[in-house]
Amino acid sequence: MTNQALLKVDNLCTYFKLPKPHLFAEAPTVFAVDNISFEIPRGTTFGLVGESGCGKSTTALSVLRLVEPTSGSVRLNDADICKFKPGELRAFRRHMQIVFQDPYSSMNPRATAGEIVQTPLKIQRIGTPAERQQRAAELFELVGLRREQRDLFPHQFSGGQRQRIAIARALASKPEFVVCDEPVSALDVAIQAQILNLLRRLQKELNLTYLFISHDMAVVQYMCDEIAVMYLGQIVEKADRRSLFVNVQHPYTKALLSAVPTIDPDVKVTSQRLQGDVPSPMNPPSGCRFHTRCPIAEPVCRNEIPLLRETRPNHLVACHLV
Ligand SMILES: Nc1ncnc2c1ncn2[C@@H]1O[C@H](COP(=O)(O)OP(=O)(O)O)[C@@H](O)[C@H]1O
Ligand code: SF4
Ligand SMILES: [Mg+2]
Repeated sequence: MTNQALLKVDNLCTYFKLPKPHLFAEAPTVFAVDNISFEIPRGTTFGLVGESGCGKSTTALSVLRLVEPTSGSVRLNDADICKFKPGELRAFRRHMQIVFQDPYSSMNPRATAGEIVQTPLKIQRIGTPAERQQRAAELFELVGLRREQRDLFPHQFSGGQRQRIAIARALASKPEFVVCDEPVSALDVAIQAQILNLLRRLQKELNLTYLFISHDMAVVQYMCDEIAVMYLGQIVEKADRRSLFVNVQHPYTKALLSAVPTIDPDVKVTSQRLQGDVPSPMNPPSGCRFHTRCPIAEPVCRNEIPLLRETRPNHLVACHLV
């Protein structure tokens, strides 16, 4: 494993303009992703964690340019994805793929599993039909399915098996970089471990680089080398796994962790329950965006934006009181 960054995201912003509520009103803006930066070294897994609606999926889609970022840059292997023309972007997609939470909704119910797995190869015009069939057979075995199952339809598989098909499809074009957006959130706990272990094995075998998204702290702890905690479109804490769980610093991360039972004896979390709902990303709170829910907020938190700064080696926190 080298330490060189495969993916480099700088000052990424993705805002959504909503329709005007009436003629003379201003169009409301959703600040879904608001100035985030991170790097992922080749062969490693970078986790994004946070409550629903904090901007994880928008980050993922923006990084792949399945949603247009408002500003910032995304580099994969030094190619600036944000500057690609449509044709270049289409060709580049073979290097970066995504696995969604619910594979069923992204599968044509009338296509066989074998055809589904070949889709990226057809779109990219990779190989002859016979070669694509052969590749699909290999991919089925790679993800722990039987070759003969290629002729079955999506509804004939279990949820876990469908996620294996989605992973096979994502790997068909031999990408270096794979986004996993809540890949196990829809699965039973027993099946979750199987899929997570499959992803880890594939990473080792194929030297894959993952952007791994989950709202579940236990899952990111199991999967990720480095983790960023998001709140209302921003990163509030970022560290390698060990440091994040042992030296947790941000009040929001502490609150997320207090909801998770941990088996690591070194992890000591003072219980700080989250109060209230997540504010709207259309109208984020002033100063520290977490101040409306923070158990230790002080007046400064309402007025001044805390910057993300290094408090320990490779451990960044955005909080006035840390
Ligand atoms: N296409 C869109 N148009 C308008 N708002 C959106 C769109 N996609 C996401 N959002 C909003 O952006 C915020 C972040 O959403 P999302 O990235 O899906 O969060 P997460 O994946 O962390 O649950 C939410 O408030 C969501 O409603
Ligand atoms: S800056 Fe203030 S409100 Fe924000 S997390 Fe820190 S203590 Fe809480
Ligand atoms: Mg999401």
